Amino acid sequence: MAPKESGSSWKVTLGVSAGISIYKACDLVRRLRERGAEVRVVMTKNATRMVSPVTFQALSGNPVISDLFEGSGEPSISHIELAKWEDLLVVAPATADILGKFARGIADDFLSTHYLACTSKVLLVPAMNGAMWRHAAVQENVRILAARGHALLSPGRGSLACGDVDDGRLPEPSEIADAALRLIANKGEMAGLKVLVTAGPTREPLDGVRFISNRSSGKMGYAIAAEAALRGAEVTLVSGPVALEAPFGSERVMTETAEDMEREVRSRFPKCDVLVMAAAVSDYKARKVLPGKRKKDGLTWKPELAAAPDILKGLVPLKRPGQFVCGFAAETSRLKENAIKKLKEKKLDMVAANDVSKAGVGFDSEMNALTLFTPDGAEQRIREGTKASCASALWDAIMEARGGK
Ligand code: C5P
Repeated sequence: MAPKESGSSWKVTLGVSAGISIYKACDLVRRLRERGAEVRVVMTKNATRMVSPVTFQALSGNPVISDLFEGSGEPSISHIELAKWEDLLVVAPATADILGKFARGIADDFLSTHYLACTSKVLLVPAMNGAMWRHAAVQENVRILAARGHALLSPGRGSLACGDVDDGRLPEPSEIADAALRLIANKGEMAGLKVLVTAGPTREPLDGVRFISNRSSGKMGYAIAAEAALRGAEVTLVSGPVALEAPFGSERVMTETAEDMEREVRSRFPKCDVLVMAAAVSDYKARKVLPGKRKKDGLTWKPELAAAPDILKGLVPLKRPGQFVCGFAAETSRLKENAIKKLKEKKLDMVAANDVSKAGVGFDSEMNALTLFTPDGAEQRIREGTKASCASALWDAIMEARGGK
């Protein structure tokens, strides 16, 4: 077996446990190989009842291991040898059962025994029924595994095999493969850095049931927080109301209005090294919030709007040398001009501008494209890609712009 240093490609052990989303693990093998990985697949016994190991063997080009003691009494490679070979262990789908075994150190099959011998980075991708996912036992195990330093990808929301629309869905194979690649590339250069990220919209109430908000899904800010956590930073995410799972490895604070968000950001700002303000904060709030629900009377309602606090502007006097602040500029016209104006007005170190007038990118979308502006007049384009890939490129740019700070 080749030692870790010898190959130019990266080496992944893909652990596959018995979730219905196992069919996506087949595609994941291909996506990992496309990104230059050599893949060895380890399946749990139950997983082999759902998909034949022959499929994974054909896709990975390597023998599949599913038993500590195969016909000959030994698997094709020992769990110790595999641990010496791999650069990364990815488990997708990771069932409640395998998460429980990993968390508690139970070693009763090849995958769980191999985990105990594994000294490489670990990426766990849970997928299961939403109620199972929220169960205290599963959540406790997930916390144990995250605290152990493993990377976890939050399950997405969508229609599950059980027919429910709920949390628990395995992310798309290309997303998992990208996260694996980023984990391999990550040298922990953000370790020790305190990062504050804001995400999502704010809600400004008009009366007891109605509010003003915007189309921000929060996905860009969440991807920025997840990426920073993956790179070893200490991350706090101040979020507006969104339907997203908290990214692993970050502390999340939920807020509602621009004023709530301002309070939470201001109290945390002095301690952070980098602030990325990706939230789409409302510029207006009702001058007077009506109590209860305003009755429909067939007449015009003209709620009077006042300016909401500009969080970034308010932070300018608090900013200390060495702190790096990146704002976002969602524009529908004159992108560059408006972005540079914001850079100056809010005394930012970087503005990430996106054109939200284009269909399919920016607000409420899986994709984004950014142009970064810095006070030295430099302009850098991050081409269209997933929000995770934009977040990764954004952190590369921030780390470079911070230089030795
Ligand atoms: O001025 P504009 O709203 O376009 O600026 C966008 C940037 O300012 C974003 O980073 C956003 O999070 C931040 N912002 C803020 N407080 C507001 C409005 C926007 O901090 N009330």
